[in-house]
Amino acid sequence: MAFDIDMIKEVYANMAERVDKAREVVGKPLTLSEKILYSHLWDGTPSKAFVRGKDYVDFAPDRIACQDATAQMALLQFMQAGKPKVAVPTTVHCDHLIQAKQGAAADLKRANETSSEVFNFLASVSNKYGIGFWEPGAGIIHQVVLENYAFPGGMMIGTDSHTVNAGGLGMVAIGVGGADAVDVMAGMAWELKFPKLIGVKLTGKISGWTAPKDVILKVAEILTVKGGTGAIVEYFGPGAKSLSCTGKGTICNMGAEIGATTSTFGYDESMERYLRATDREDVADAANNVKDYLTADAEVYDNPEQYFDQVIEIDLSTLMPHLNGPFTPDLATEVGTMTDKAKANDWPLAVEWGLIGSCTNSSYEDLSRASSIAQQALDKKLKTKAEFGINPGSEQVRYTADRDGILEVFEKLDAKIFTNACGPCIGQWARYEDPKNAPKNSIVHSFNRNFAKRADGNPNTHAFVASPEMTAAIAIAGRLDFNPITDKLINEDGEEVMLDEPTGWELPPKGFEVKENGYVQPVADGSGVEVVVNPNSERLELLTPFKPIGNDITGAKLLIKAFGKCTTDHISMAGPWLRFRGHLDNISNNCLIGAVNAYNQKTNFVKSQLTGEYAGVPDTQREYKAKGIKTVVVGDHNYGEGSSREHAAMEPRHLGVAAVIVKSFARIHETNLKKQGMLALTFANENDYDLIQEDDTFNFLDLNAFAPEKPLTIELVHADGSKDTIQVNHTYNNAQIEWFNAGSALNLIAAQNA
Ligand code: F3S
Repeated sequence: MAFDIDMIKEVYANMAERVDKAREVVGKPLTLSEKILYSHLWDGTPSKAFVRGKDYVDFAPDRIACQDATAQMALLQFMQAGKPKVAVPTTVHCDHLIQAKQGAAADLKRANETSSEVFNFLASVSNKYGIGFWEPGAGIIHQVVLENYAFPGGMMIGTDSHTVNAGGLGMVAIGVGGADAVDVMAGMAWELKFPKLIGVKLTGKISGWTAPKDVILKVAEILTVKGGTGAIVEYFGPGAKSLSCTGKGTICNMGAEIGATTSTFGYDESMERYLRATDREDVADAANNVKDYLTADAEVYDNPEQYFDQVIEIDLSTLMPHLNGPFTPDLATEVGTMTDKAKANDWPLAVEWGLIGSCTNSSYEDLSRASSIAQQALDKKLKTKAEFGINPGSEQVRYTADRDGILEVFEKLDAKIFTNACGPCIGQWARYEDPKNAPKNSIVHSFNRNFAKRADGNPNTHAFVASPEMTAAIAIAGRLDFNPITDKLINEDGEEVMLDEPTGWELPPKGFEVKENGYVQPVADGSGVEVVVNPNSERLELLTPFKPIGNDITGAKLLIKAFGKCTTDHISMAGPWLRFRGHLDNISNNCLIGAVNAYNQKTNFVKSQLTGEYAGVPDTQREYKAKGIKTVVVGDHNYGEGSSREHAAMEPRHLGVAAVIVKSFARIHETNLKKQGMLALTFANENDYDLIQEDDTFNFLDLNAFAPEKPLTIELVHADGSKDTIQVNHTYNNAQIEWFNAGSALNLIAAQNA
């Protein structure tokens, strides 16, 4: 069914020669990240050392994973590439389009009715092009990948930013836009700027209430949401070996929240145990044969400062449990210090929900440890104050946890057991009839992201991120400032009781079990398989190639100057819009509607330079498009952080935006803009952001000389006729300039396959 052992053996067969050669050309001992990167070069054996943070390098990933929301556009694009089959092993996972409401059975049934058109499309495209298909309910992409496909020393890409989760099994796994995945599916190289390296040395041992989640919550505090940008975070040290494989996955998963390219751990016994427990004895044996290549060289661990660009050290023995939030995952608060902070910031102390699951924390170990806390509520006669919601990570985890009585514990607390899917983690949670006008409240969850509206669409929900066991404890106490290490609770008999430290199983003592895992193998020859897209569908639309923007951008108008944080959620909202992921024109009606207009601090309310009136961003932009007027979007720092969704680039492109000029970009979004043939530019002087006025016109003065490492010059014409000339930088190399010239990267691929 699942993994391709021959492919893995081939990777390992090449590894020794390539890593040895890389050590020679780099001229020093290698980190694990470098070993994996250098053994996956598109050109095979390394012949030169690459400059971290500077050189663009072509790689040959071993596999691809796509989730249902992003797969639609990725596969629609792949269909345009003219290939009979995907070039590397690829899987599609249906996990994002399932709304959490009543509970797994009813929710899955409803999703299969409301999204059958999309699921059938994905199933048929998968079958036609040799792609493994995981049905709705089979599990969350990253948990399923960890259980079935990830392998130490491998490289994969996935159309979801938490693809990085597979670093828990020693991979270099990177979230990309659908356009990047299409390149690799079509047999082309995948390009990445050679990352910088951040080493995180873990000493000591985790114990008590502290969980692997707290490692990354602490790292997020240290590095912030921008600190990992352009870097691979490599964890090592004695503390790393003490963590379970799925715990490592949790840490790598949330590397996306610090903007890291990916995170990884060296191969160790926890990974071997996990491989054997998940029925991959042959992968474990093969990995053991090349063990030395699956960790950094010993010298690296002895003197990490010499080999990493930055080194952080965390002592797991003294690490405290954390709650990160609200509204940003790097705002860390140690459990026990919450009371004053919450009061000072007016965060609601009463907690209404505790949610356990998501790709971050939905393993068997996570559920078993959280259930050990839930069991205490029953044993100690505690009435839970908040409601519980559980999303198991996969059908294998769910089935096994059910068999072992873990889910029953939660059910006795009236928990809602939702589908093995993303659910509340991606706004697919029918918590309110009218989320926009819902009350201020706090929730705690074991997920990764906590941007406003992310879970339930309510801008007033304050979401805090914690480990599953801490989430369970806080849900029972119903208070944000509950510290289970010191605080007592009053039970139904009026007695004071305390919660004992969590316990659990790294792996199921009786082994994993599953009846129907939800996997569908594609037919060997898919040439006769028909893929049907109804031309009247509101959810799916075949693509037509973008026309090149061209080198003449004069008289372009400002569409919006976005103020502050502008994530991919602000640019292309999730929640109810997920249903249009396969229909570019329809989903473009959410384009930038979450971005805050710098001139009035309102969302979706911008001035049209055609009428002088204020209106929504998509409507205003459609009017510019109808008149053939190009537009520019301006943004702040880390523009496009958050996710890999290329819709955030395709929508402005489809609607006629020519350029996005910002203080800095999140990596994936910058690449996505380039792939779609747009201009992704950064202010050479950050303060020039302040020069941009609401009625500005943009004239690009030297775009006809667009070249790598050469800044561009733009003339700003203000409403009063005065002018400013500014410089903008870019990171386009020659190949990417070709994309711009061709109208998109896909246009180039299609031309090559014609
Ligand atoms: Fe799904 Fe949330 Fe992960 S949306 S893939 S569970 S980050």
